Amino acid sequence: MGFKEGFLWGGATAANQVEGGVFEDGRGLANVDLMPYGKERYLVGTGKKISNCIEKDVYYPSHQAVDFYYHYKEDIALMAEMGFKTFRLSIAWTRIFPNGDEEKPNEAGLKFYENIFKECKKYGIEPLVTINHFDCPMYLINKFGGWRSRKMIDCYMKLVQVLFRRYKELVRYWLTFNEINMILHFPFVAAGLRFEEGENQYQAMITAAHHELVASALVTKMAHQINPENQIGCMLAAGSYYPETCRPEDYWKALCDNRESYMFIDVQSRGYYPAYALKWIESKNASVPFVEGDKEILRKNTVDFISFSYYSSRVSSASPEKGKQTESNIFASVFNPYLESSEWGWQIDPLGFRITINELYDRYQKPLFVVENGIGAKDIIEEDGTIQDDYRIDYLRKHIQAMKEAIEDDGVDILGYTTWGCIDLISNGTGEMEKRYGFIYVDRDNLGNGTFKRIKKKSFYWYKKVIETNGEDLS
Ligand code: BG6
Repeated sequence: MGFKEGFLWGGATAANQVEGGVFEDGRGLANVDLMPYGKERYLVGTGKKISNCIEKDVYYPSHQAVDFYYHYKEDIALMAEMGFKTFRLSIAWTRIFPNGDEEKPNEAGLKFYENIFKECKKYGIEPLVTINHFDCPMYLINKFGGWRSRKMIDCYMKLVQVLFRRYKELVRYWLTFNEINMILHFPFVAAGLRFEEGENQYQAMITAAHHELVASALVTKMAHQINPENQIGCMLAAGSYYPETCRPEDYWKALCDNRESYMFIDVQSRGYYPAYALKWIESKNASVPFVEGDKEILRKNTVDFISFSYYSSRVSSASPEKGKQTESNIFASVFNPYLESSEWGWQIDPLGFRITINELYDRYQKPLFVVENGIGAKDIIEEDGTIQDDYRIDYLRKHIQAMKEAIEDDGVDILGYTTWGCIDLISNGTGEMEKRYGFIYVDRDNLGNGTFKRIKKKSFYWYKKVIETNGEDLS
């Protein structure tokens, strides 16, 4: 019992948060390169502040990130030392197609990822590839307005075809879009959307989401045609909403809040927009821009597995004055007095993890893949050079235990587990470096000072033992 043989233990990253090297080897400019550090970051990420080019005197953390572009061999060797069975990474679209619509791909970009995959294979690590983790070529954003344009589907499919053909022998697990429901919360980051004064923002977001959903279904079709062994997953920013009280209105609010996330995955997993989703879209004076054939494409090409991120549960209240009381991965949540919080106010709820896992499995009855979980925390280097990150071990231990119970006691099928930011990386929400998730420390601060030196934390050795014992020894 417990974790099945071959359970995919590992860690996860995203190109823009680790690679750096944004001007290397012909890479083009992407939305994520224009995400500044500091107060403006949220405004740019939500599409409220338009930023078109790199500005002087502004610090953009992704430009060097943790220099994975030049450190990948060392980093993958460290992951192998922990015993990783899988490594989740994403492709920077603009390394392959710098503008997004060129005739031919950029060989240097293709080679970079090929080298990474081969390096992984050398250690028996299975790559888990997010085709699109919050990045979009600026050229396409300026030309088409991001994913609000249907033309994006063709550009994306061109990228995907190149990836599937080139990496046919190297990659089996693919995710189409990272946290697709993030479109409603961080639209510039998730879909390259920026808004005009007075525009119906919901219409733009629904349109962009529909295009991503159609693209995701087309990718699934192509993946299975090119190699029947390919496994395609959708990806949800998960974390169930609890009602603040047993007042029916609070329960109803929680149900509606959950649906605002589930509706995307419902389409990817079941193959159609549920009735409630179409009604919700109507209530926002918007509509789904179906064209002929879309419904069939969605219906025939559902995903093989459901992947998701989980950091915390969330709380809904029917009383509007409660508003956003705490952070939960950019989502609004009412404060939960029964839980502790991280230094960034994200509430810690291992049982909520088991609840979320069960809700997803009840709903879809497809294998799950936990592709992000972890705690962002400040780490201190002790005088003897060690990093005693017991708080991280504590968080992960409780969450792995909850996942184990979901498997053993509830019978859920889970393919694998990748902790977020297995190596320290740039925070997506805040751009900080000090919000660290890793087993491997990187010497770099919020303002870009540091040597990029890697240091193994206490959790490095702990996770190694967890993997070695296939999750049996969590002590
Ligand atoms: C998820 C994203 O939303 O949460 C990651 O997929 C992100 O890209 C992670 O980094 C943690 O959020 P943050 O804001 O702490 O980086």
